[in-house]
Amino acid sequence: MPVEILLMPERLPRHVAIIMDGNGRWAQAHGWQRTRGHEQGAEVVRAVTTESVRLGIARLTLYAFSSENWSRPAAEVAVLMGLLHRFLIDELPTLHANGVRLQAIGQLDRLPREVRQTLDATIAATRDHPNTILSLALSYGGRDELVDTCRALAVEVAAGRLAPAAIDAEAFQAHLYAGACPKGADAVDVVIRTAGEHRLSNFLPWQTIYAEYVSVPEPWPEFTVAVYRRALAEYQSRERRFGCVPANGVRQHLPH
Ligand code: FPP
Repeated sequence: MPVEILLMPERLPRHVAIIMDGNGRWAQAHGWQRTRGHEQGAEVVRAVTTESVRLGIARLTLYAFSSENWSRPAAEVAVLMGLLHRFLIDELPTLHANGVRLQAIGQLDRLPREVRQTLDATIAATRDHPNTILSLALSYGGRDELVDTCRALAVEVAAGRLAPAAIDAEAFQAHLYAGACPKGADAVDVVIRTAGEHRLSNFLPWQTIYAEYVSVPEPWPEFTVAVYRRALAEYQSRERRFGCVPANGVRQHLPH
């Protein structure tokens, strides 16, 4: 029987961000269509979300569809959008049962109309849930987010609602896709990437400045709860200094 990996509750990350990679390769290695990897990947999203709730992770951001993914073959994009739509419909009872609040970041206007409508409805239906925030990065690009944020700030300045001198990190943060949140709450503690890759791929450049990075060899369809816990154990083994000298033991979160 596999032994459960023990984690230190006091050193769990508050914000986990995952780059779910390797769906296509996993399917092809089994002689299947790439899209079968995405289907299996959607099942893994369920399991990882449930485990995050169990662990008390405050925010889980999943890179579900990048702005670059729009240039994949139209049939694959259609399968991904269909899976997302089905996930939003099927998952609602579980989101309610687990008290999960859904959010989405990205250029959501680019999503197909029915997906956008279901997404908005699910976000609204789970708005008051107290547990993990499941944030789906959809049609998301990190550079797009920074550019869109600058544009939103410029609109405020042009309308006379914001003085240029008042633009600081807090004001900038409040205009990111996720909107205003308590100071530091959007800071990613750990980025996990599957399939043995070591790239950030345009993911959360603002939020990850002091994130730890953990790469696991398993492709996303094989990212079991045990693999997730192993990645979190690796995160817990890291000493986070945030550019400071650790005075009183190891710091766990970005000081603010
Ligand atoms: C990367 O694998 C994965 C994606 C581009 C999409 C991730 C989507 C899912 C896990 C399923 C749907 C999501 C939800 C939230 C229901 P890849 O195709 O780039 O793999 P490869 O590098 O092996 O080709």
